[in-house]
Amino acid sequence: MKKTVFLIALCLASLLGCFATMLHASIMTTKHNLSTSGPGPVKATGEQRVCVFCHTPHNAIAPTEGVSVPIWNHSLSIAQYTLYESPTLLSPTSPTIRPDGASRLCLSCHDGTVGIGAVVNTGITQNTISMLGTGANGVLPTGASNLGTDLSGHHPVSIEVNNSLINDKGTQCTNNLVSWRVCLPLPGTLVKLSRTRNRYGSQSTGMGVQCTSCHDAHDDRSPGTSLFLRVGDKNNIDSLCMSCHQDCSQECPK
Ligand code: HEC
Ligand code: HEC
Ligand code: HEC
Ligand code: HEC
Repeated sequence: MKKTVFLIALCLASLLGCFATMLHASIMTTKHNLSTSGPGPVKATGEQRVCVFCHTPHNAIAPTEGVSVPIWNHSLSIAQYTLYESPTLLSPTSPTIRPDGASRLCLSCHDGTVGIGAVVNTGITQNTISMLGTGANGVLPTGASNLGTDLSGHHPVSIEVNNSLINDKGTQCTNNLVSWRVCLPLPGTLVKLSRTRNRYGSQSTGMGVQCTSCHDAHDDRSPGTSLFLRVGDKNNIDSLCMSCHQDCSQECPK
């Protein structure tokens, strides 16, 4: 009898452990749960649905600039951005080249120009979802999460990574112009390339660095520290960087 009780208790304990891990890995506990049950300061006054802020099953936004979007519901930004520039940056940067693909999805909230509750389809009325904790006009409050439209101090996004770029960066290494190569994301890393329409050279792969290369909007392992990063956390970002950059003395891993 005692043994049975012990076994049941053991089973329950492991089940609970299992559920706790599942919940931990879900979007519910992250700042991207913008519904009334969200843990962050920015959340809805009455909306209980979680996905609606970013996705809708019907009447979603059409693919933007030729890059498909996951049945996207959040109104996109029409801001013009100032992009990162440097003498050694090979990827083209000009006012006509704009962040595209998944980066535009993030910037629809994170450039601070569009209301957090501004969706195209609430499913009930065509109105904006009413929010708490936002800045003026319902946008992201001023702070680290509000990137603004000057992206010149941020890692470049919407840049294609292909063999031409990798080889040309290698030539910059040989000529002692830079100390770090660019490589394809290390095999086995969670860092990934995403669709982009911007091109480098003649070899188009259509895959490059986007916000989603480094971040996963659905997964924040330890909220407040891991910042939706695919690898590492705010106190440990080197391995993330070295998923794509190798010291010039190293070759790109094959
Ligand atoms: C804060 C915004 C946000 C919220 C909230 C959100 N998503 Fe997403 N979702 C994204 C972004 C951004 C992408 C594109 C990811 C990419 O391109 O790598 C995406 C992609 C997806 C995709 C397609 C690609 C994939 O990863 O499978 C599915 C399915 C999806 N989301 C489901 C959901 C569901 C279900 C919910 C609600 C529980 C949800 N999302 C809530 C931002 C969000
Ligand atoms: C629907 C609006 C919305 C979209 C779309 C969205 N976010 Fe957020 N994000 C927020 C809000 C709101 C916060 C919380 C801001 C705060 O607390 O000040 C946040 C917080 C964050 C944080 C900080 C987390 C922390 O712990 O401080 C990161 C990183 C982040 N988002 C990345 C992204 C990326 C990358 C994408 C695209 C893949 C994205 N977000 C798409 C609304 C959005
Ligand atoms: C090359 C990798 C990389 C790319 C690309 C990237 N991020 Fe980040 N992001 C990071 C790292 C690392 C941190 C944490 C360190 C820091 O804040 O400086 C971070 C932090 C953040 C934060 C939290 C700021 C804070 O301090 O609380 C937000 C919000 C964010 N990123 C949004 C974005 C958005 C939106 C994009 C696309 C326009 C993007 N990121 C592209 C790596 C990246
Ligand atoms: C997904 C791959 C990827 C990741 C992860 C990544 N980078 Fe990059 N990075 C690139 C690419 C591609 C370029 C563009 C190189 C070019 O066009 O010359 C770049 C450009 C840069 C540049 C500008 C180089 C120049 O010549 O002006 C710096 C600096 C940089 N990255 C640092 C970092 C740091 C720090 C991290 C970690 C937070 C990081 N990168 C993570 C792919 C990546």
